Amino acid sequence: MLHATTIFMHAGIVEESVTGVHRLYQLSKAGKLCVPAMNVNDSVTKTKFDNLYSCRESIIDALKRSTDLMFGGKQAVVCGYGEVGKGCCQALKALGSAVYVTEIDPICALQAAMDGFRVVKLTEVIRQVDIVITATGNKGVVTREHMERMKNGCVVCNMGHSNTEIDVHSLRTPDLIWEKVRSQVDHIIWPNNKRVVLLAEGRLANLCCSSLPSFVVSVTAATQALALIELYNAPQNRYKADVYLLPKKMDEYVASLHLPTFDAHLTELTDEQAKYLGLNKVGPFKPNYYSQNKKFYFCNKKSIPCWSYTFASTACSRAPTSHSEHLTLWWTRQAAEAFTKSVAGGLIASFEPPTRTEPEWEA
Ligand SMILES: NC(=O)c1ccc[n+]([C@@H]2O[C@H](COP(=O)([O-])OP(=O)(O)OC[C@H]3O[C@@H](n4cnc5c(N)ncnc54)[C@H](O)[C@@H]3O)[C@@H](O)[C@H]2O)c1
Repeated sequence: MLHATTIFMHAGIVEESVTGVHRLYQLSKAGKLCVPAMNVNDSVTKTKFDNLYSCRESIIDALKRSTDLMFGGKQAVVCGYGEVGKGCCQALKALGSAVYVTEIDPICALQAAMDGFRVVKLTEVIRQVDIVITATGNKGVVTREHMERMKNGCVVCNMGHSNTEIDVHSLRTPDLIWEKVRSQVDHIIWPNNKRVVLLAEGRLANLCCSSLPSFVVSVTAATQALALIELYNAPQNRYKADVYLLPKKMDEYVASLHLPTFDAHLTELTDEQAKYLGLNKVGPFKPNYYSQNKKFYFCNKKSIPCWSYTFASTACSRAPTSHSEHLTLWWTRQAAEAFTKSVAGGLIASFEPPTRTEPEWEA
């Protein structure tokens, strides 16, 4: 818990997690936020990469490493069809699993249906599924009642928020035996010998049982570093004690720095096309509203220069191999250094909230 006087000494907060951002908006609404805060979670380079692409890979890695499961022909249910849920569903489908989705939001439910997944209530499929994955950011999504009805050998894990999604607490009763079969894998044994396989005691399965793709960590760490630099360099009145989205220009900048990895070549707008779309040729190319752990990072005028390196080392501590570590460190430094130069060059100093004029329709 940070004392209010400590917060006053800082230039701002950069928050990466869904839940943390939610709390910041609550503080702001209550008039209790005393410094500017940057909502990095809703940057495309965070949401798409960390939540979608990263989880798409790490869910399979986590399940394989901890259970040696084969996915072809298995039935899985994914609770929540947000970015994390979408990634999990895509990965399971690609390996031949039959995937069900549960959702509370009709738009996400419709998306799931259009993507070819059956949208069900958890109770409809709980008896038949082999794998249950939560990805909602919510609490009490899988209850003891659900687990009572699971079949023998069903694997249960959480990819969403902290350890709240699966009601693990309700399994700590004298009638159930907990058997640790390996690190991060518990068998919960019922009196009739039925076993439910619980990963990481309901904490984030991918963070506990696998590694994260270091490239993704590089993208998100670079986004956070740039958000800190922006808060640090911004003229005094640009940000008040409120929650802000990262300017789209910076999002695009992080993405462009990572494109050379894939030898990807961007198409440049012609003058005529730029005018037609009402865009600046160098971006931003999308309006700010175009979208796609819980840590608070504080920056003050003294600490900012070392932040990019802190992020790099954070990224590296989560990276799987030394080659990847090297890459992560390198990309994060590149992003921070190049961005610092661009600030000096006036790229961000001249930043205005993106405006977009209507295209001039030709007769
Ligand atoms: N495991 C990881 O590495 C990782 C990475 C990024 C984010 N996260 C966490 O994953 C969670 C989800 O992130 P997201 O970006 O997908 O969020 P999101 O808001 O895009 O998606 C969550 C979805 O769950 C649905 N939902 C909420 N309650 C539900 C319920 N009871 N039953 C079924 N569906 C329900 C919501 O309607 C929403 O569509 C967050 O807590 C986030 O912090 C985890």
